[in-house]
Amino acid sequence: MEHFPNKISVAVFVTALMPGPTLNISTINQQDQAFKKKRPLLDNQYAYDDGPNKPATRFFFGPRYLATYLYQLSPPQDWNLATTLVRPRKIFSEEDMIKVLALSHRRYGSVSRVFVMTEKDLSVYPKFQRWMTTHNPPNRVVEISGSDHMVMMSKPIQLSHHLQTIANHFDS
Ligand SMILES: *[C@@H]1O[C@H](CO)[C@@H](O)[C@H](O)[C@H]1NC(C)=O
Repeated sequence: MEHFPNKISVAVFVTALMPGPTLNISTINQQDQAFKKKRPLLDNQYAYDDGPNKPATRFFFGPRYLATYLYQLSPPQDWNLATTLVRPRKIFSEEDMIKVLALSHRRYGSVSRVFVMTEKDLSVYPKFQRWMTTHNPPNRVVEISGSDHMVMMSKPIQLSHHLQTIANHFDS
């Protein structure tokens, strides 16, 4: 969106972190931590490739955590498949993210945005989703009721219906 605003008709954020010109990633991270601070780590794991006294470098979702906080309303088969496919995620420093995510009104801000909210999300809480859409308002917010975080697994028909409607509306 920042680099190729003219090539994007609409950006759809599906229960995703949504920084913007007036909402930087460090503020989002702080809020994210504040909303989820009481959540146990369960079987998630961190890797410390730079040494035990340095910040963690990679993060792995554990099967139990996925089942409890991401896939709790999705078919068990999808969760089961996911446990075989999840990959470690590199942890980027906040300084690196701030540099890459310098978002301008003129470029990022010129692209239409839709935010898809998920009602029963235990990973990115609906309250936090609403907080992001208040502080970085998109053109449209749609809510998928009864969805966990993995909306493409728990409510695939509803999500594809919304994507079709959004594509028709914003196609230019
Ligand atoms: C992020 O935004 C907050 C609030 O506007 C501001 O206080 C803070 O300095 C910003 N952080 C960076 C790294 O730009």
